[in-house]
Amino acid sequence: MKIVMLGAPGAGKGTQAKMIAAKYQVPHISSGDIFRSNIKNGTELGKKAKEYMDQGLLVPDELTVDLVIDRVSWDDCKNGYILDGFPRTIPQAKALDAALAKNGSGENCGLDFAINVDVPDENIVRRMSGRRACLKCGATYHTVYNPSKKGDVCEVCGEALVLRDDDKPETVQKRLAVYHEQTQPLIEYYDGQSILKTVDGTQDMNDVFAAIVRILEA
Ligand code: AP5
Ligand code: MG
Ligand code: ZN
Repeated sequence: MKIVMLGAPGAGKGTQAKMIAAKYQVPHISSGDIFRSNIKNGTELGKKAKEYMDQGLLVPDELTVDLVIDRVSWDDCKNGYILDGFPRTIPQAKALDAALAKNGSGENCGLDFAINVDVPDENIVRRMSGRRACLKCGATYHTVYNPSKKGDVCEVCGEALVLRDDDKPETVQKRLAVYHEQTQPLIEYYDGQSILKTVDGTQDMNDVFAAIVRILEA
């Protein structure tokens, strides 16, 4: 099962991807989490990526495409994976298609679903200001909608939770604009491949998940 999660910043891609990964035992691959972990560890890639991320801009394709395409070639991806935050531009989507066509054959070739978690811009800013992130394991919480049972630390790994640097309201507005301009065209792209499925992301997160499971098991 190869799945791409689509949706605006804060739509709940990461939240749903984690739930799908746990239910179907496939890795959750988030390009944003990979960049944040590089930033946390002070790598060269992290330094470069941070310049763009803090402004709400996309990291250039040259720093992103090979990284993710290499990741999906790892052994743990044999039975599939969930991509969250990649692809985010048409050139990234085409590079992924080309890599899959090269490596796979028959049924192993190509993506199975592109799941678009649809949330209007009005709802997004409220969600982002309440989000708390674990930069160690990538878990995501919300002060109101999904608080950590351990308060200010991650339920999974015990790391202190933080407000992401790019979750300030001004930066969120910029990320939304970039989303509409550069990422939203992927909806049409995957619709053209007949793998697009849209779910209403304004529902409770468990209801969003149930809608996704119905799609995957239809
Ligand atoms: P990335 O980390 O991918 O951020 P994003 O796309 O902006 O998405 P978010 O992670 O902010 O939101 P999400 O949809 O995962 O929502 P979440 O589940 O957390 O990318 C960050 C940056 O890295 C980019 O801006 C770019 O610079 C760079 N980058 C990454 N990939 C790149 C690429 N491929 N190319 C170039 N640059 C790239 O949920 C949000 C909040 O809402 C949480 O608090 C959650 O608890 C809550 N919530 C979730 N669902 C619900 C619900 N149903 N009801 C109520 N609350 C909910
Ligand atoms: Mg995310
Ligand atoms: Zn954690």
